Amino acid sequence: MLHALIMAGGAGTRFWPLSRHERPKQLLQLAGERTMIQMAVDRLAGLLPPSRVSIITAAHLVEPIRQQLPELPSGSILGEPCKRDTAPCVGLGAMLAAKNDPDATLVVMPADHLIEPVAAFRTAVASAAALVDEQPERIVTFGIRPTFPAETFGYIERGAPVPTVPADRPPSFEVVQFREKPARSIAEQYLETGNFYWNSGIFVWKAKTILAAIEKYDPKMYAHLVPIAAAFGTPEFQSVFESKFSEIKGRSIDFTVLEHYQPVVVVEAPFVWNDVGSWQSLAATHGTDAEGNTLIGKQIAIRSQGNVVYTTDDHLVAILGIDDCIVVHTPDATLVASKHEEEAVREIVKKLGEKS
Ligand code: GDD
Ligand code: MG
Repeated sequence: MLHALIMAGGAGTRFWPLSRHERPKQLLQLAGERTMIQMAVDRLAGLLPPSRVSIITAAHLVEPIRQQLPELPSGSILGEPCKRDTAPCVGLGAMLAAKNDPDATLVVMPADHLIEPVAAFRTAVASAAALVDEQPERIVTFGIRPTFPAETFGYIERGAPVPTVPADRPPSFEVVQFREKPARSIAEQYLETGNFYWNSGIFVWKAKTILAAIEKYDPKMYAHLVPIAAAFGTPEFQSVFESKFSEIKGRSIDFTVLEHYQPVVVVEAPFVWNDVGSWQSLAATHGTDAEGNTLIGKQIAIRSQGNVVYTTDDHLVAILGIDDCIVVHTPDATLVASKHEEEAVREIVKKLGEKS
């Protein structure tokens, strides 16, 4: 059976000051009425019932997520006692799914992406699930055609085509290599070959396959997760979770498994994808005016070009004679930054610590 795991423990630090410790990116409405995590759950409708959707997040976000998603059974939202990146989250989610359904197939996805059209996403996931049901040792990734040599994504090199059934399904290829967040010079070389995709961060695999891979590539992590999953549903669960999880050395699933595992398939994503990782990527979803400005909220721009300006609560922001800046006004914090520094917004969050 198909189960879904939504990874929702990230901090969304490049989105400060809109994204905050208590209200990170996945809980925000960045495109329309629904929040990012609500849209992630909506996207799964029709593929599987809410009882087979799990969310693993940070402990302090469980309650706000529950409030946003009353349709999910309350036990399906789990809060990690500390941040350990995505591999432990994936491992634990797979162990819990396999507990009730040893042959479980999982779609694993981030809580904070924009995907359109949703119907194309569902078809692609359903066909990936059919593929791993037939060939359970395979892992399926969804690749996005890169538009610039980003250093913030994983890259997937495609090889020979994999026949798809039915034939009108999105093109799929054997994966030659997976490289997580390469340096810019390497990303530039990848783009020149024309054979690389960005990793969308969405995966389909058998629970038992990803668990065997985590056990192989990080046996210590695996060994720490086993007693946590075994205690799930018992009165000891919380104390076992807190003690064992904190002993894990945090690592992403990309570095832990994807960079080493074979056989992997990459499906060319038949949908438009935006990971909304930064102010400029949010701007890309809103479009620009004739001067190249993206103005979200109440504002005036005069003799200014290439800026991203975001303001909340009807607060008026005026820009005059400035180019390539990010200006974000929220009720209790304001950011004014050069566009070229947007990756460094996380330095502000680091400096602020918990108070961010
Ligand atoms: N439960 C949990 N615990 N979730 C986490 C944690 C954690 O410690 N850390 C991150 N997440 C969640 C985030 O909320 C997000 O939904 C997802 O896992 C991915 O984490 P990111 O931290 O956003 O990863 P990334 O953007 O740096 O890189 C990944 O995504 C890229 C595409 O957006 C990688 O998979 C890249 O290869 C990929 O290109
Ligand atoms: Mg991300």
